[in-house]
Amino acid sequence: MKYYVMTLFPEMIQRGMDNSILGKAMEKGLIELETVNIRDYAGNRYGKVDDYPYGGGAGMVLQPEPVYQAFEAIRKKVGRRPRTIYLTPQGRPFCQELVEEFAREPELVFLCGHYEGIDERVLEETVTDYVSIGDYVLTGGELPAMVMMDAISRFVPGVLSNQESAQFESFQDNLLEYPHYTRPAVWRGKEVPQVLLSGAHDPVETWRAAQSVRRTRERRPDLLAGRYRLVAAVFSPTEGTSQAVRWFAEAFGQEVLWLDLNRPEVRRQEVVLEERDVLLAASPVYAGQLPPVEGLFQNLRGQGNPCVLLAGYGNRHYDDMLAQLAYRLKKQGFFCIGAMTVIVPHIFAPKITEGRPSQEDRRAVEEFAQLIWERLEAPKRRRVKLPGNACPAPKAARPVKKELDRARCLDCGICAEECPVEALDRDTLDCDESLCISCMRCARVCPANARSFDAAPVERMLTEKCGIPRKPEIF
Ligand SMILES: Cc1cc2nc3c(=O)[nH]c(=O)nc-3n(C[C@H](O)[C@H](O)[C@H](O)COP(=O)(O)O)c2cc1C
Ligand code: SF4
Ligand code: SF4
Repeated sequence: MKYYVMTLFPEMIQRGMDNSILGKAMEKGLIELETVNIRDYAGNRYGKVDDYPYGGGAGMVLQPEPVYQAFEAIRKKVGRRPRTIYLTPQGRPFCQELVEEFAREPELVFLCGHYEGIDERVLEETVTDYVSIGDYVLTGGELPAMVMMDAISRFVPGVLSNQESAQFESFQDNLLEYPHYTRPAVWRGKEVPQVLLSGAHDPVETWRAAQSVRRTRERRPDLLAGRYRLVAAVFSPTEGTSQAVRWFAEAFGQEVLWLDLNRPEVRRQEVVLEERDVLLAASPVYAGQLPPVEGLFQNLRGQGNPCVLLAGYGNRHYDDMLAQLAYRLKKQGFFCIGAMTVIVPHIFAPKITEGRPSQEDRRAVEEFAQLIWERLEAPKRRRVKLPGNACPAPKAARPVKKELDRARCLDCGICAEECPVEALDRDTLDCDESLCISCMRCARVCPANARSFDAAPVERMLTEKCGIPRKPEIF
């Protein structure tokens, strides 16, 4: 890597670069530095290179010709138009991505301004990149040029004695670095994390990756913007499960594509996930299984994408649902990276799920979102094992008696429109029991409270047997 620096203060650059790691790298010939004094191209015997700004105003402006001649001298040496960086607060923010991009160039030219600035015309002729190291104004471009050369040189092979140290540090892959510890193992009562003392490579790497993600999410979430897209495919007729999904999506903190699987037309539309997509598949548990809805989740096509499962259930049990859903999605190109069960209101037994999902449940969902981040960023992504039978024999839920009070009905048609399985006739409002899954969405959405159900036997049984509040579970 060869750096050329066009400046009025070459000795400032030379002195700043001639030390420590960069000094040694220059000694070894790994990087070269040539300063070009703009004043040498003044074209007058006083070395004057600046003048008053046209239009008035404070300060002086560097004239175009000396800058241009200095640039031409470099261009002739290089033999082509080199990448030329002008340091200015108006430039693109300097970041790790740019460091790595610049490090791939055989040479770089830095143009350091002073005074009020440089005549715009010569910038137009010479500069390829406008770069800023931060939203503040300095007295000149020399310090930013040195900051940039320092960061870029670290990526020149051989500059860092330990090649690894350039491989994972803050901003590498847009993640902040994990915390470091050294001897003593206990300092003023503070212990070094146990995993680091174990000496086992894989757990250490996994711990470091997790810490890295945690820190980045806490301190610089902006660095993770656009890293993933969450495709939230949600079936939730009475919207208990979807509450937990909203908490997850908020805590996950990425762009969301919502697929409302309550709608039959959405379930019929094939969705092929993109590379950065993470699928969140959420549904309530019916009779210990996935609700018996034709095509549920079957419109989703993965290309090896990770998927996260969320099962809402009414405090009885989720039985085979997670295993069944993971198996279904596996066949469609997904692998399950994590799953969670959450207690949501049981439409037939509200008492046993009172206050659920609670604020405590919410915290568990948020922790789950953090865990998913850690698993996504782990050195090796692993498929999770889930309890239950992946292919259970279909089981019907206990029937409930449904009623329509025609005297109350406004004939608005909302229930028929909203029924997830199109079981209600739009004209007669009659229910086709062979299609109905007893989800009770129709009762929930009816603006006149004209639809009701009698689930007393089910409610009695559940209240008797499933009254102890269960906790969310994470796999
Ligand atoms: C037909 C039917 C069967 C259900 N079976 C179970 C079950 O086996 N175990 C359980 O804990 N909850 C069961 N529930 C309760 C639901 O899992 C859940 O609490 C409720 O219906 C919320 O779903 P939502 O997301 O549509 O609001 C059942 C609910 C319905 C409507
Ligand atoms: S008719 Fe049956 S399936 Fe349709 S919304 Fe009502 S309870 Fe659900
Ligand atoms: S939503 Fe209620 S009021 Fe409207 S048509 Fe259905 S039952 Fe009647």
